[in-house]
Amino acid sequence: MNNFLSEKSILVTGGTGSFGKKFIRYVLDNYNPRRIIVFSRDELKQFEMEREYSDDRLRFFIGDVRDKDRLYRAFAGVDYVVHAAALKQVPACEYNPFEAIKTNVLGAQNIIEAAIDCGIKKVVALSTDKAANPVNLYGATKLCSDKLFISGNSYAGSRDTRFSVVRYGNVVGSRGSVIPLFKKMRETGVVTITDPRMTRFWITLDQGVKFVLDSIERMQGGELFVPKIPSMRITDLAEAVAPGCRHEYIGIRPGEKLHEVMIPEDDARNTIEMDRFYIIQPPFPWWGKRNAWTVGRQVPADFRYASDTNDWWLTVEELREMAGE
Ligand SMILES: NC(=O)c1ccc[n+]([C@@H]2O[C@H](COP(=O)([O-])OP(=O)(O)OC[C@H]3O[C@@H](n4cnc5c(N)ncnc54)[C@H](OP(=O)(O)O)[C@@H]3O)[C@@H](O)[C@H]2O)c1
Repeated sequence: MNNFLSEKSILVTGGTGSFGKKFIRYVLDNYNPRRIIVFSRDELKQFEMEREYSDDRLRFFIGDVRDKDRLYRAFAGVDYVVHAAALKQVPACEYNPFEAIKTNVLGAQNIIEAAIDCGIKKVVALSTDKAANPVNLYGATKLCSDKLFISGNSYAGSRDTRFSVVRYGNVVGSRGSVIPLFKKMRETGVVTITDPRMTRFWITLDQGVKFVLDSIERMQGGELFVPKIPSMRITDLAEAVAPGCRHEYIGIRPGEKLHEVMIPEDDARNTIEMDRFYIIQPPFPWWGKRNAWTVGRQVPADFRYASDTNDWWLTVEELREMAGE
């Protein structure tokens, strides 16, 4: 492994979340960072993580991405920033729209401005398939965030700070995911399903962490990286986690899609395909001057990467294994 993080200083916003904890554990175990800064709001989560990880390369910063001054202080001497902090529950964002915008959009702007001014080398921001052709406010705020980060590259002007985005689908077993819900319901013998036709992209936290690390290493600044990952049918997941239970269909919820899209057809003209991932390239003149991606294949004009037309599907058996059954 090319240890590009050796002796480097890394800051993870949302470092106490599902992704942040897994990412930090992996980097501490497999790279040799000088220090990793956990940046988040809740002192209890930080306190518990500090005790659990017990590693003197870790630093804990209480802070809110809405507070730019605090980001300036935290970014001093940092080489790489991974931006994972977000409000990410669809219903919560729907019912608290101003809060979602403050954290997911204004927070992104703060990260970009602080990163440029503090001389951060690379910033990777986490995005979601819900940001592609969004139908809920969570997705819409993440689309704004994606666009801000991509534009951050031209905003940086002659400074060296580079910004890229990683977009992927549902994470198996992350906080608030459907698996714990199904596990609870199986005791009753009835599993509620919104719509039997529903499909989703599905990725494990390990795969997400490794893909983010690969993306930090390979980014030029401006790419929106999308990994090739499998899809699953919600009915197959219910069968995997709660076999033999009766399915009760309750109808699609506000802000939900039947299928998720990772790359909409309108982005096809800017998308290149590599063996294990796609890159949506920025449609701006500055990208052409800087772009070092000469190896990818242009996707067809009618290309669309969606969970229902994916050619890679998880079986019930594979889903059972991923759910830890
Ligand atoms: N989970 C998924 O299925 C999934 C799929 C695709 C993409 N993503 C993206 O991946 C990222 C990480 O998701 P996750 O599953 O790890 O989320 P998570 O478990 O909910 O963690 C969110 C983290 O962000 C922190 N945070 C929230 N608001 C903050 C603020 N205003 N300022 C500073 N820190 C804040 C939280 O800590 P405090 O509350 O203590 O501040 C927590 O550490 C998000 O950007 C999400 O959109 C997630």
